[in-house]
Amino acid sequence: MKQKINVGIIGLGTVGTGAFRILRENAELIRHRVGVPVEVSKIAVRDAGRDRGLAIPAGMLTTNPAQVIEDPNIDIVIELIGGYEPAREFILSAISRGKHVVTANKALLAVHGSEIYEAARRAGVTIGYEASVGGGIPVIKALKEALAANRILSIYGIINGTSNYILTKMTEEERSFPDVLAEAQRAGYAEADPTFDVGGIDTAHKLAILVNLAFGAHVDLKDIYTEGITSISPLDIDFGKVLGYKLKLLAIAKMHEGGQAEARVHPTMVPDDYPIAKVGGVYNAIQIVGNACDDIMLYGRGAGSMPTGSAVVADVMDIARQILIEPSRKLPAGDGMAQAAVKLQPMQSIVSLYYFRFMALDQPGVLAQISGILGRHRISIAQMIQRGRKQGGSVPLVIMTHKALERDIQTALVEIKSLACITEDPILIRVEGDEP
Ligand code: NDP
Ligand code: HSE
Repeated sequence: MKQKINVGIIGLGTVGTGAFRILRENAELIRHRVGVPVEVSKIAVRDAGRDRGLAIPAGMLTTNPAQVIEDPNIDIVIELIGGYEPAREFILSAISRGKHVVTANKALLAVHGSEIYEAARRAGVTIGYEASVGGGIPVIKALKEALAANRILSIYGIINGTSNYILTKMTEEERSFPDVLAEAQRAGYAEADPTFDVGGIDTAHKLAILVNLAFGAHVDLKDIYTEGITSISPLDIDFGKVLGYKLKLLAIAKMHEGGQAEARVHPTMVPDDYPIAKVGGVYNAIQIVGNACDDIMLYGRGAGSMPTGSAVVADVMDIARQILIEPSRKLPAGDGMAQAAVKLQPMQSIVSLYYFRFMALDQPGVLAQISGILGRHRISIAQMIQRGRKQGGSVPLVIMTHKALERDIQTALVEIKSLACITEDPILIRVEGDEP
């Protein structure tokens, strides 16, 4: 039996630093739980001279990732550089050398996951990717193991820490979007390109990974309807408060009778008394409904150095135990692999409640014109607020609808937008919950 498991790390930034710290600081506990020591032997970075606030033994750092990937003594390669290339190339190269891989790279897995899982299956190695969704929350393990006996019916999640942090600070402290985004970047929560966070793309990457696991189906990223939080204004957060809702960036996946699935990412008004509405700051929450277990909610820190490092190291420990038990274990075909492609329902055919905000001239007849168009498109109004009085100027007019078809909503919006009394692009936010 092996007396030690050797680990190589590529990337020692926010997550790499957390994983390295945990492997160091909890070394004795990890040795005890795995059965042998798990030791970092090489780390590749871009800039070996950068101060990382860590005591790194001499000779451990390299700027050449090949020294990690090609080292015959390294059993597990941890990829924490992010992005598509060269991360994909490094991972495939490590797999081809029979090394197990742990990664937090959701962007890569959402786009190239099938190729990577298939290469790993052929090589008989494992890909650990717990850290790719929900930071420190064990959602991948929950879906793969604890909920494996269920047909998963739906997933609702706040799975981007940065945008939840921004929405929370905008709601509670009335701070500006750019100011809070800069704070999230300083804390190390945001992606290298923060438009992935605020544009909903990071959430869509994670949802693609969850759908793959939950529905056993490959989903093409471009089929996931994705809308971010960049056009959210404090005014809509305020109206949400008045109406009893919190604004959240939600990932939603549902499996309908007959095998058609829904997967979408967009800002959503969630009733104040829903548990997910209370999830603030960098915290994530994922609500999963299974046909046997019913409702489960997982909650925790969705980003950051130590929480994400915790998920990385847990994968390393799992793989280390496998290596000790059965060094040449071949993965069963289903592990991490989608069985088939799933057909996603087009966004136009979803049914939801809707919030609209129109900026309209404050003059007689405006409401009749808007409600006339909504009525003609089978959209029924549940509530309406008009704030302020500004003769000759425009005022916000907020409308909440009963359940309506997205196609009707979009057609009505185009017509309303062309009215002479509408002075700005209308705002549309989908609403979860019961009929108001
Ligand atoms: P950082 O930007 O903080 O760190 C990236 C690290 O990779 C740096 O140490 C950098 O080196 C190194 N690096 C970049 N390119 C190369 C290369 N070609 N060769 C060798 N080293 C390289 O990123 P994060 O730690 O924030 O993110 C890492 C991964 O984890 C990403 O996939 C991200 O999406 C994911 N993730 C991040 C979370 C977070 O909270 N930040 C949470 C969950 C997942 P140097 O330091 O020398 O520049
Ligand atoms: N940028 C991501 C977030 C990191 O904010 O959630 C965690 O995946």
